[in-house]
Amino acid sequence: MDTMKILKPFDAHVHLRDGELLRAVVPFTARQCWGAIAEPNLKPPITTRAQARSYADRITAAAGPDFVPFVLAYFTDTLDPQEFVDGLTEGDFFGVKFYPRGATTNSENGIEDVSLLWTRGTRQFDIIEATKTTRGVVQLHGEANFTKGGEELDPYDKETYFYTEIMPRLQDAHPQVKFSGEHITTSEAAAYARKNGGEYFGVSVTAHHLLIDRRDVYRGGYHPHSFCLPVVKRVRHTEALHELLYGDHSFVWAGSDSAPHDWKNKESECCSGGVFSAPAMVELYAQAAENIGLQKLALERFLSRNAPAFYTLTPPQEYITLEKTLWDFLGHIEYGDSPTDYVRYWDYPELKWRMKYD
Ligand code: NCD
Ligand code: ZN
Repeated sequence: MDTMKILKPFDAHVHLRDGELLRAVVPFTARQCWGAIAEPNLKPPITTRAQARSYADRITAAAGPDFVPFVLAYFTDTLDPQEFVDGLTEGDFFGVKFYPRGATTNSENGIEDVSLLWTRGTRQFDIIEATKTTRGVVQLHGEANFTKGGEELDPYDKETYFYTEIMPRLQDAHPQVKFSGEHITTSEAAAYARKNGGEYFGVSVTAHHLLIDRRDVYRGGYHPHSFCLPVVKRVRHTEALHELLYGDHSFVWAGSDSAPHDWKNKESECCSGGVFSAPAMVELYAQAAENIGLQKLALERFLSRNAPAFYTLTPPQEYITLEKTLWDFLGHIEYGDSPTDYVRYWDYPELKWRMKYD
């Protein structure tokens, strides 16, 4: 097989940033995907309908009219429930994004006390419940910073703690809410998905968490462009993700978590978390699929069908073509006034598929 034609993908998790950087990065996602869920961790975070509408307009202005952005509200401790419900009803918000406070880039406005999410009578509880009638989704950055007893968690244990201690409580408290666990990286999260995946729970997996394990991050010195959150885990976890994909489940899909940062924030003012993969999102996933032995139709479901079905969206009948050709994913994009303002691609040598553009 030398070419592969697949339904145009949907990116269920991407950081498109704002301003000049937004204008520089959006075209990469828009040329490969018909739509994407745009993460709301801007500065300031997106919490009002007016902010969401104007962010969607800025994305559309940069991407062109064929690309559809779905904007989330940032789940802060002060998010106004009425504003949120109105925004969901009117289509300004697609759902709400939970970050544990301080867990990742621009998460200082995240939820401080996660137990409020399953405690009746709290604003946080009501916001989650509100997504039921308005068909919104609750996207989760599935990590915890602290144990119940207040002990700080090791970065390699934060996700496992979330999927063993927190996620079951969340789903018990909100049985008919649609939750999506973002960018999962561990065997424990994969096991949780296998057990609970379906109408009310699904997960996204990034290409980079499928392509590398932590040996790659440390080999020959630290690789800051592979530093992302959740951190890349040891090989048995990467293999658990492979197995999950190989299972070809409807509740598993692509969310690139492409997260551009200026090179200075990655290399000299070390080190912002985030992998900039958008310029080769589809090719990186195709490479992962090839490594895992995933068939074309399973790859197409993962990239293009499963997330829209979960989120009740109808993908347009548009297709992309990939050609078999060896190439190196290397480069950078300039975005500011100065030539030193640039973002380096997450580099990955020897990709075997390349998307064909008209
Ligand atoms: C993301 C970013 O840079 O905004 N970083 C990352 O490492 N994934 C935030 C996030 O999704 O955690
Ligand atoms: Zn992200």
